[in-house]
Amino acid sequence: MRDNFKSSFGVLVAMAGSAIGLGNLWRFPYLMGTNGGAAFIIIYLVLVFLLCLPIMMSEFVVGRRSQVNAVRAFKVLHPKGRWGLVGVLGVLASVALIAFYCVVGGWTIDYLVHSVSFSLPEQGASEGFFAAAVSSPWRTLAYTWVFLLLTALVLLAGIKDGIERYTKIMMPLLFLTIIVIAVRSVTLPGAGAGLEFLFRPDFSKVTADTFLNALGQAFFSLSIGCATILTYGSYVKKHEKIVKLSSLTAVSDTFFAILAGIAIMPAVFAFGISPSEGPGLLFVVLPDIFDQMAGGGVISILFFFVLFIAAITSSISLLEVSVTFLIEECRLRRRTAVLLSSGVCLVLCTLCALSGGVLSDIRILGRTFFDFFDMISANFLMPLCGLLVVVFVGWKMKRPAFVDELSNGGTLPNRRLYDVIFYMVRYVAPIVIAVIMIFGWL
Ligand code: PFF
Repeated sequence: MRDNFKSSFGVLVAMAGSAIGLGNLWRFPYLMGTNGGAAFIIIYLVLVFLLCLPIMMSEFVVGRRSQVNAVRAFKVLHPKGRWGLVGVLGVLASVALIAFYCVVGGWTIDYLVHSVSFSLPEQGASEGFFAAAVSSPWRTLAYTWVFLLLTALVLLAGIKDGIERYTKIMMPLLFLTIIVIAVRSVTLPGAGAGLEFLFRPDFSKVTADTFLNALGQAFFSLSIGCATILTYGSYVKKHEKIVKLSSLTAVSDTFFAILAGIAIMPAVFAFGISPSEGPGLLFVVLPDIFDQMAGGGVISILFFFVLFIAAITSSISLLEVSVTFLIEECRLRRRTAVLLSSGVCLVLCTLCALSGGVLSDIRILGRTFFDFFDMISANFLMPLCGLLVVVFVGWKMKRPAFVDELSNGGTLPNRRLYDVIFYMVRYVAPIVIAVIMIFGWL
């Protein structure tokens, strides 16, 4: 019999685990601060709930209705045509994303190990330390591989006994830890400036770019377009409520992103540093700050623990896409499927890991392997897969089937709401995704 999630809470933590990732920590706080603070949150929430959530629910519906892997799901729901290719795109997107996600995951372990042994760099030495972490071949490879290995180990145990069991422990810990860091951060002298940067509503900073940035961020943050939600959905029982679970996922994802802002920005401002984003913020700026902060040693352990958990619960969801695919399409046992898909990811991660040093001269379309996989997944594969999913659901699957799935066979109330969601998926979502794609390319 096919494995599945045992409880609603299990589904929720797995989905939130996928959504909450590096994007919440290294991009959202900066975006929020530079795009009008509280004004940005309002815009972001509107975009999440009106536009991105219906897209997420579409993936969920395809998975739950078909109860099979991403590629076969489309064939089962609509045997005519070549819709299975959408699933193939999803699998490719998940693999491309995991290729560089594991490298960053490896850095989080590297930093966690150094925090625990109190050997993070002293103030001023962070940049050199990070450059060494990225460019020393064996160091970066070893940590990248360990990260991938840990991801694979969870998947070996399956859905219920692996993903559900471990995310149920990791996600509450994740929230608890970020709250502890946030409390420390806001109690630093001078923290007020950081809170002001984050929250002060400033509508004059809201431009067309704000909307596009918020949209792109919401799309990435909700893990849309990699068939992860579809794959998790295929393991969800028929009585679970799709609209409720998806909405709660979006709420926890946004709540965590705001908490991350409160944990990071007040500390950055308290030490008179100007805010930034990306790996530089997490791996250069923050270690510098931890070195100067009273209790910084402990906070750095907690912080890199948070980063690690956020990253691994996302990579677990990414790797499961190809594992489920291999189990069902190639009739492999789970163990073999995990081995095979991690093997492929291992090769790609290795290329990405080495692209910070030994392989830095090798370029695809002018980019290193790391940047290439980042670009191809975020700007091309994910939006394209997301676009085709909503076109499929809105135009091929048709309204009765969609509403039937959202309402659990007509047993849940709120038919009107389901109709509205359907029309968002059919008409609005394709336009939104097209905008994200064009923006990404420009
Ligand atoms: N949502 C993750 C983040 O914010 O870092 C990234 C991600 C994970 C995207 C899994 C897509 C996915 F399928």
